[in-house]
Amino acid sequence: MEDQTINSELGRADAKDFGEADALALRKQFAYFRQQDERAAAGKDFSIYLDSAATSQRPDPVLDAEREFITLQNAAVHRGTSNAVGEATNRFENARQLVAQFLGAPEPEYTVVWAAGATDALNTIATGISEATAALSVPALGVPGSERLAIHPGDEIVTTEAEHHANLIPWQRLAARCGAKLLVVPVDETGTWSVAAIREVLNSRTRIVAFTDVSNVTGWRSPAAAVVQSVKQLAPNAVTVLDTCQSVPHVPVNIAATGVDFAVFSGHKMFAPNGIGALVGRTELLAALPPARTGGSAITRVSTDSAEFMPPPLRFEPGTQPVSQVVGLGAAIDFISGLDITRLAAYEHSLVEYLVSEINRLNGVTLLGPADPADRVALAAVNVAGVHAHDVGQVLDSAGVITRVGHHCAQPLHRALGITASVRASVHATNTVAEIDAFIAGLKDAKKYFQV
Ligand SMILES: Cc1ncc(COP(=O)(O)O)c(C=O)c1O
Repeated sequence: MEDQTINSELGRADAKDFGEADALALRKQFAYFRQQDERAAAGKDFSIYLDSAATSQRPDPVLDAEREFITLQNAAVHRGTSNAVGEATNRFENARQLVAQFLGAPEPEYTVVWAAGATDALNTIATGISEATAALSVPALGVPGSERLAIHPGDEIVTTEAEHHANLIPWQRLAARCGAKLLVVPVDETGTWSVAAIREVLNSRTRIVAFTDVSNVTGWRSPAAAVVQSVKQLAPNAVTVLDTCQSVPHVPVNIAATGVDFAVFSGHKMFAPNGIGALVGRTELLAALPPARTGGSAITRVSTDSAEFMPPPLRFEPGTQPVSQVVGLGAAIDFISGLDITRLAAYEHSLVEYLVSEINRLNGVTLLGPADPADRVALAAVNVAGVHAHDVGQVLDSAGVITRVGHHCAQPLHRALGITASVRASVHATNTVAEIDAFIAGLKDAKKYFQV
């Protein structure tokens, strides 16, 4: 009850800007942060969580929704005829509607397909296209219309050097399997690329253009709508794939307005459970995409030697579904919507502006990505000259500051920037200026300790 009061207070329609006091109130809805704040108040060691880009903490309403479902309503969805199954299926399908609304991807033009996360969703697209290609010689592997997605030798797949491995390796493998050419648009010294650079490689042989909305290393928000426009103009045979893993939790995303064909995200970065995310796609394209994985529930008719598949989304959801995770994701979307993502985005942006300005004051510490924080979302990664990122991470960790160190699943991007690893601080609306100060103090301590 108390939590609901806080939430409605934070999310009231006439609410002013979200500020630090709101962030402190918001923390009260997370057992994780309550524990740390209580430890801090009691003068004990406590942690400062600056690793939301890797995974976010879950608020009580999300955990409560999962728990309530598991303890009181648990049933397999889309199977059987009992009332219990009907109710569970309604919750499961309602969450799908919530995702569609939250991301501006209305039916019937778009369909939301559950996936285990962004990685799974990207593999669903790439493997499905591979199956569509294989179906040119083995028709049983296709679905009606799948030839439109098939890749032919000499076709081109475009991605960028800034991608998370999840949005690179599936395309490498698809290109290798189908005899296509993978064109990787290079980044400049800021780790970003331009629409002009993408336009240079687009042509009628381009079949896929896959890129990230917000980089998990530079935090840069790419000009997605302009890329999609260019693809429509110069590469009419291509589908566009947008990795919205790092944007959906932090800034408003509107898939229809962007015009992208497929978008993917993971729930665990947006206050929701692990093991759930989605592939949101144009329904007509999903209808032509063969399933990457098959089994029960996804079919209409099966004989001992063949199967026919349901239309999307169920075609891509074989097996028993992660229902409590879906319910949790729906609760997370309600939670974020109740707070108003536009307000959260503005607050997080003010934190990132402060983070960038403090990093820029440090000698020997290089900020990855553009210096101007205008297009930066929720994170900043740095290289401390002369100190390995893991060593910096250890100093930060000993001060209780939890960050991500390493290549962040983006080795090509780090290599292009001339480094092997970096230290990343990422924020959510639960963070405060004092926590950023602690990160900056940790960087200074690392420099002092290693005498650089
Ligand atoms: C930009 C980006 N894409 C894809 C992924 C993969 O997400 P998941 O591991 O949840 O599948 C991540 C995870 O860090 C990411 O940051």
